[in-house]
Amino acid sequence: MKILIIHGPNLNMLGKREPDIYGAMTLEELNSLLTKEARAMHAQVEFFQSNSEGEIVSAIQDAMDKFDGVVINPGAYTHTSVAIRDALLSSGLPVAEVHISNVFKREEFRHKSFVSGVSVGVVSGFGTDSYHLGLRGLVNYLQSRVS
Ligand code: DQA
Repeated sequence: MKILIIHGPNLNMLGKREPDIYGAMTLEELNSLLTKEARAMHAQVEFFQSNSEGEIVSAIQDAMDKFDGVVINPGAYTHTSVAIRDALLSSGLPVAEVHISNVFKREEFRHKSFVSGVSVGVVSGFGTDSYHLGLRGLVNYLQSRVS
């Protein structure tokens, strides 16, 4: 089972960016923990990070025939991007939407997500653990679908 993990804009700055909200872990450290976690679940993960909406859309299009599912933290594009929503929907891939912070506890503009409606589930507010929970949820979802 192959899962693509997509990190949206500014997530390359993890560890440096507003650590009171997003924590001290770097993206590299997070990806390495996720790789180990996936292996323990007999899954494989690949990572993609971009600050550009179009590049994220292209990565989702390219994932169609290569991956079984997508974990995505769309960053600020969560709240603005019809293009990312459309790409996820047309890929037909099951999606787990994850957020490090609890977006519902923050500014009102973060309460709206264009991605939640095309996702199997959403995890928000558990720090970088949100990625682990989202990955686990998606793998369990895919396994229960095939069995
Ligand atoms: C975020 C929440 C978004 O509102 C914000 O723009 C981000 C990160 C999160 O992981 O908590 O860039 O997706």
